Amino acid sequence: MCFVGNSSGLIRLTPRMPLFTSPPGYTRIKLVSSFHELVTTPFADGINALCWPRTLTGDFREIVEQLGASEGIMPLDEERLNALSLSTAGRAAREILLGDQRLLREHGLSPELNCIQSYPRDEEAAPVPIDVYSFHADSAPVEADTWLCTYHGPASESLRNDEAQRRVDVPATRAELLKQFGGKDGGDFREYLSENCYDLHYAPTPGARPFSFGLGNLWRIALDYPGCPVPPCLHRAPETIPGQPPRLLLIS
Ligand SMILES: [Fe+2]
Repeated sequence: MCFVGNSSGLIRLTPRMPLFTSPPGYTRIKLVSSFHELVTTPFADGINALCWPRTLTGDFREIVEQLGASEGIMPLDEERLNALSLSTAGRAAREILLGDQRLLREHGLSPELNCIQSYPRDEEAAPVPIDVYSFHADSAPVEADTWLCTYHGPASESLRNDEAQRRVDVPATRAELLKQFGGKDGGDFREYLSENCYDLHYAPTPGARPFSFGLGNLWRIALDYPGCPVPPCLHRAPETIPGQPPRLLLIS
């Protein structure tokens, strides 16, 4: 954390993070240098994640502190953000939050900004976790992709496709799911897996090296839809640790 002076006294700036770089040897991520490139680059040749690395200036912590979120998920609309009384650095952060949403809306998307202390968790133990704390692929019935940016707090995490195994393909898990299903392996069972989202969740393989999407970076990632030319980008929400600051997350 550093402090700089301005005409109204000292302001607090978010610490500068190093720009995102892909995990060594991993070729499914393409870094881009503009929003235009982020929008227009197709998912092809195995690339399933596009990242526009950014270092954002502004005090996102001030926004989170003023919101005072203490549990669950607080949706942030323009009205709520504009009602905050902020310092110069806080206002700079607010402009970024509003500006990113504007960009995405102009591109025909429906972004949501949330202040997140924690997500709902699976209520009961199941053979396959299906909450967002588990590595998963997003899915859609038609061509689509997921956009996300963490501005503050722990960032979203990702798992390389070559270090992941679908949980429903783990023999012991599949056997347990078959027992729960009460039938045979086949089309009906696969439909059951799909209806319950069991087939979208992945386990890290031994020695897997999950990585962080980082703060401030805007991501466009591939999801699972019929005919998608690349495997989906696997991701999860970071673990909620008591006492840690809430997250500011843009998602579309
Ligand atoms: Fe997701």
